[in-house]
Amino acid sequence: MKDSYEPNAEMARAAHADKATYDRMYAESVEDPAAFWAEHGKRLDWIKPFTRVKETSFDFGNVSIRWFEDGTLNVAANCIDRHLAERGDQTAIIWEPDEAGDEAQHISYRQLHAHVCKFANVLKELGVGRGDRVVLYLPMIPQAAYAMLACARIGAVHSIVFAGFSPDALANRIDDCQAKVVITADGAPRGGRVTNLKDNVNKALVNSNEDPKVLIVKRTGQQIAFRAEGDYWLHEMEAQVSNDCPPEEMGAEDPLFILYTSGSTGKPKGVVHTSGGYLAYAAMTHQYTFDYHDGDVFWCTADVGWVTGHSYIVYGPLANGATTIMFEGVPTYPDAGRFWAVCEKHRVNQFYTAPTAIRALMGKGTEPVERYDLSDLKVLGTVGEPINPEAWTWYNEVVGKGRVPIVDTWWQTETGGHLITPLPGATATKPGSATLPFFGIRPVVLEAESGKVVEGNPAEGVLAIADSWPGQMRTVWGDHDRFEATYFQQYKGYYFTGDGCRRDEDGYYWITGRVDDVINVSGHRMGTAEVESALVAHEKVAEAAVVGYPHDVKGQGIYAYVTLMGGQEPSDGLKKELADWVRQEIGPIAKPDLIQFAPGLPKTRSGKIMRRILRKIAENDYGALGDTSTLAEPEVVDDLIENRQNRR
Ligand code: WT7
Repeated sequence: MKDSYEPNAEMARAAHADKATYDRMYAESVEDPAAFWAEHGKRLDWIKPFTRVKETSFDFGNVSIRWFEDGTLNVAANCIDRHLAERGDQTAIIWEPDEAGDEAQHISYRQLHAHVCKFANVLKELGVGRGDRVVLYLPMIPQAAYAMLACARIGAVHSIVFAGFSPDALANRIDDCQAKVVITADGAPRGGRVTNLKDNVNKALVNSNEDPKVLIVKRTGQQIAFRAEGDYWLHEMEAQVSNDCPPEEMGAEDPLFILYTSGSTGKPKGVVHTSGGYLAYAAMTHQYTFDYHDGDVFWCTADVGWVTGHSYIVYGPLANGATTIMFEGVPTYPDAGRFWAVCEKHRVNQFYTAPTAIRALMGKGTEPVERYDLSDLKVLGTVGEPINPEAWTWYNEVVGKGRVPIVDTWWQTETGGHLITPLPGATATKPGSATLPFFGIRPVVLEAESGKVVEGNPAEGVLAIADSWPGQMRTVWGDHDRFEATYFQQYKGYYFTGDGCRRDEDGYYWITGRVDDVINVSGHRMGTAEVESALVAHEKVAEAAVVGYPHDVKGQGIYAYVTLMGGQEPSDGLKKELADWVRQEIGPIAKPDLIQFAPGLPKTRSGKIMRRILRKIAENDYGALGDTSTLAEPEVVDDLIENRQNRR
């Protein structure tokens, strides 16, 4: 394995940025951010152009982030209408259904315009207007993109809930944002199996404090429990509305969407993104990070339920007039060649996926890749968690045949778009490093305890960002104090990412993973507190502590220590019952991989659980537990070690 891969000269010549351009633009972007973004804010069509550019403060107690504040625009018009004259007949969205044998759909910009206008008029019929919240609980179908853009068109705020989440998780999100309408489908086919989404919505509404109307997309045609009141079929309503819907003039700082994400406490946070800054940043990162050019076919394999789908399936690519692929299925159905079959079939130029998918496919060997012609690939991307050098190398050699640059993009739901990433024509890559900051991003490494800036290279500590960028989240929905407390309190004057990192002698960033009680399971963020509160909600559970442990495919697996109520007997049956319970409470991604029954948990005398010890035992690294003398009952540790579940 080589240490470093230079961009190839041919690519660098044709790219939006070669090394000299990156260096120059980066310097400009941090020396005078307002001037830099005044220029790049122009990539959008403004109804009323902005005159104010950057008004941001990271001062704890007064955190306020505003970009392009006095400008007005419409996000949907930027993603659709402004392309009509030049590329009305170009494909905007290619939809690839779950079944490989079913026909793909090609939706042109003109067709997209008609679909979105109709959808927007249906929402208006249901009483949705500017500022109202609409929850989307949908499969990966074109209507998910139509619904997002329809909300944007009329100034409503969408909040997508991943279709893999449980009815309870859905109900919590509907309640937190007080949704007026929930958009769902009859069923969601994925990997050959169908989830009855409408059933889940019905269950969620039983436990919800709100009474939203439910708009249903017909995807499978299966039988559903259609309620006499409050349920509407999309196709029936569409037949009654016109396809003329002028876009609303929105302020740059009007909210575009809310997306819930796990943190270190039990309750997911509603991350709020606004219109102008978010769209400019999503579009610009999409263009530069993937070196996207007119005519390219771009494929991000994420689900629109995650921020990656928002920024790099819908908003970034469509703002750039791209052809973007929406894939309903999974990487291994009907077989492990599906990704590559789709790449060949639609002549994909940029392909963007997660390390967990790469590792899963790596395990199936090279034959499923070699079956297909991947010669149209120009850039390969990865996101979601640190990529191990073995997976990076496999991606590079087997998929990219050693000729396609890899962009390892580090970012978060909160950041709206890439913050640390190579640019294909500019940045020499090192397997496992997200490399260098994007334009306008000022990363700093801080000493975890003291918060002091670690100057010079190499450096190690926690990762923070010293100044705002247009794609940054603005607040936590309904709780600005929580926003400040989560991101700006611990290290004053900085945005704290929650990640640890190392900066090497060349100034390259290497993300080492979360330093808070958040774990990363298959590239999905899971607050350990959320899993714990699901476990203790079970009648047989007295106490629970959840930690991550290294997992070959998922990156991290979920390891739960459970103390049972008096009189309850540990058994394999009960383990399964508890795992299924968590799956039902939160969703399949939260299901514990390993459960250990523990008569007691290691606690300090003041009653704080010592997670450091639990992490070590879960890692099977129990020889180096460090100081256990401050524990109230040191002997519980012996039992935990003896009965550890991860014996590798
Ligand atoms: C966390 C954010 C951003 C879209 C997907 C996840 C981890 C993300 C990388 C990367 C190392 C990464 C971080 C981050 N992460 N990308 N390229 N290298 N770690 O969004 O659910 O908000 O999670 O994912 O730990 O904090 P998210």
